[in-house]
Amino acid sequence: MRLFTSAGFLAAVAFAAEPFLNEADTGLVDYLLGTNYTEGTLPLLKDMRAVLDFDYAARQFLDNQKYSFYRTAAGGEWSYRNNLDVWKKVMLRPRHLHDVSKLNETLPVTFLGYNFSAPVFIAPAARGAYANPERAELNFVDAAAKENILYTAALYASKTIEELAAQKHNDTMNGPQVLFQQIYTNANFSVTWDAMKRAEETGAKAFVWTIDAPGDSTRHRAARYDTTNANGATSALTWDLYDEIKSRTSLPVIPKGIVTVEDAVMAVSKGAPAIYLSNHGGRQLEYSPSPLEIAYEIHRNAPQVFQQVEVMADSGVRYGTDVLKLLALGVKMVGLGRPFMYANCYGTEGVEKLIQILKTEIVHDGAQAGVTDLKKVPRSLINARPLEANVFLMDQ
Ligand SMILES: Cc1cc2nc3c(=O)[nH]c(=O)nc-3n(C[C@H](O)[C@H](O)[C@H](O)COP(=O)(O)O)c2cc1C
Repeated sequence: MRLFTSAGFLAAVAFAAEPFLNEADTGLVDYLLGTNYTEGTLPLLKDMRAVLDFDYAARQFLDNQKYSFYRTAAGGEWSYRNNLDVWKKVMLRPRHLHDVSKLNETLPVTFLGYNFSAPVFIAPAARGAYANPERAELNFVDAAAKENILYTAALYASKTIEELAAQKHNDTMNGPQVLFQQIYTNANFSVTWDAMKRAEETGAKAFVWTIDAPGDSTRHRAARYDTTNANGATSALTWDLYDEIKSRTSLPVIPKGIVTVEDAVMAVSKGAPAIYLSNHGGRQLEYSPSPLEIAYEIHRNAPQVFQQVEVMADSGVRYGTDVLKLLALGVKMVGLGRPFMYANCYGTEGVEKLIQILKTEIVHDGAQAGVTDLKKVPRSLINARPLEANVFLMDQ
């Protein structure tokens, strides 16, 4: 699509102490220069070695409008940047001489009673057809089944609820495939109730209710191409509505978009079976915190939340160490959005490869850090003191 370097970028490199790098230097660009690779085309899948390699590949392959919809974030994109940058504030505290030889066996996780092969999942994201016009999110269903991880389908997926359900595999390592269904309640409620009915009838196992979209978001990068978000202008999202949604289904309803300890505690008091920490990949509200900061705020103010409910989180996760840091704070399942959308440019194989990269990094990095059980990553694995400087404390 275009070269990443520009005069502005070079100036930023020259003057900023630490310029923001949207795509960390994994060596991919230098490597491709020495091959037959033609800029603006999709690099070979074999050359994808890191999660962020898929960003580069998608930026080359997709047209501006489609790439911008995937990549866009709110306002000046500081939350988006913070999601990617925040991890470096928190160093690991690796313990040596711990027997990590069986770490691999501890990768599987149980969430809401369902078994998965790893604590990572495909977050709900709309318009999979941009990357893969024909199969769109069917590739997520297939890859999630093959790798036995969770896929949470988006209400505004390119494929219908029925098409995604029909693609489910009955023969995963843990039996019939489990899908969760994301819902919005911004449009006409009857659309949501209908979607819930259809998802329940086709076997979804839980609903993920997105609560961080009460209004349209300010997304300049996408608005430029008239590719705005799918939410209504403003809508009455309330905890009473949560009660109503719950009353309409026997399935668990997980609020997605919790960014404060108050809302986490509220969700628990409302009987949520699980909560989903997320700032929507920085796409909704500029200056909303990253999952690491949210998890830390909850950990400091109401650590019991992590015992009371199961916690999932996403936004800015790109490395195995990012996953480990969230697990150390008590998060159980960690999601990725954009990387899966980008990997879908390669179809099912690309999505599978991304999952494999993540699994491998989690186990390798966990072993390096002396973690002996990924289900019990100790809080002491991370030095979170730098987060202390800005953490919100309820009693102050
Ligand atoms: C292209 C795109 C579309 C998205 N669509 C939805 C959606 O329809 N519903 C929703 O709850 N979240 C949506 N999200 C947010 C993701 O579920 C997730 O919170 C976010 O992508 C995580 O951040 P990451 O992209 O940095 O991994 C979308 C994200 C992207 C990138």
